[in-house]
Amino acid sequence: MAKNIIVTGGAGYIGSHTVVSLIENGFNPIIIDDFRNANRIVVEGLKTILNQDPLILEGDVCDAVFLSSVFEKYEPEAVIHFAAYKAVGESVAEPLKYYQNNINGLMNVLNNMLKHNIKNFVFSSSCTVYGEPDGAKEVTEETAKNLPSSPYGYTKWMGEQIIEDVFNANPFLKIINLRYFNPVGAHKSALIGEFPIGKPNNLLPFVTQTAVGKQEMLTVFGNDYPTPDGTCIRDYIHVCDLANAHVKAVDYLISNQNGLLENINIGTGKGTSVKEIIQTFVKETGVVLNWQYGPRRMGDVIEIYANAKKAEQLLGWKAELTIADAVRDAWKWELKLANQI
Ligand code: UFG
Repeated sequence: MAKNIIVTGGAGYIGSHTVVSLIENGFNPIIIDDFRNANRIVVEGLKTILNQDPLILEGDVCDAVFLSSVFEKYEPEAVIHFAAYKAVGESVAEPLKYYQNNINGLMNVLNNMLKHNIKNFVFSSSCTVYGEPDGAKEVTEETAKNLPSSPYGYTKWMGEQIIEDVFNANPFLKIINLRYFNPVGAHKSALIGEFPIGKPNNLLPFVTQTAVGKQEMLTVFGNDYPTPDGTCIRDYIHVCDLANAHVKAVDYLISNQNGLLENINIGTGKGTSVKEIIQTFVKETGVVLNWQYGPRRMGDVIEIYANAKKAEQLLGWKAELTIADAVRDAWKWELKLANQI
């Protein structure tokens, strides 16, 4: 029988793509989501892609009674915990909202795992835990963590600390912190993708929204950085590759008997500048993009990309899709939204 996997935040951007990968790989995902930051269109998209109704339980991960009842009923083999707020700027304006939801949600999930004797756990972490890397811009999991520059970043940084402390006290747990770099793109069907609420903060949604006319102009935040073209460098990872990394992580946890705690970078291993993203978008779509250079954005890391060798060695995972794939899929998704909303 297919193993039950609880996916908190499973109707969100990365969560919904992971649900598809889980089902394609023979698992039975149980989505927990309260739709405060997800769109119900995703449910329709999942139905069409999967040719079945996804199992969705509506509720808040901070609700201990609700979570306990779900864990008791479905006896999951593993939990993948996505449900959290993720907007850096908003977290600066409303820090308590972030600490309240992201930290309490994580603690509630961990508490219930212990209570219901569930051992396997995958946590959505972020390359934000490296802050601005001190030396090499290619970071391995051994690269020193630095203090993040936002409350959002702190929730991931502290989330990893909480997990480490809980693991030390309960060494039979099997835990993987996946440190995502910059997730981009959408499912190739254009039936699921990202729904930025309000004005997007992230680069690619801003690019596609400008191209479709929802935003007037893309501003590139700074062109005087010490990088080859003066713009910041990131490691953009296709969301479908990222989704597959979760399945590989679950496989790894299930196939290991002993307790473990691993941090694993999930990126392509390649840095791409903001300017290169714009050039790739224009080349792949043939669409005219209004853009200009503007001042630097406060708190931006200059350059960071993953050393993704550990993911390959331990999980047998590596990125398959390219940035060209990601911009094409993101554009297709934006066009789909333009007709729908
Ligand atoms: N950028 C622009 N113009 C925009 C938006 C972004 O030039 O309108 C630039 C940024 O300055 C940056 C790059 O595009 O150089 C990527 O910016 P994003 O906001 O898309 O991504 P970040 O790397 O800043 O943030 C991501 C995640 C966060 C995480 C952070 C950790 O979105 O969740 O990485 O470094 F905390």
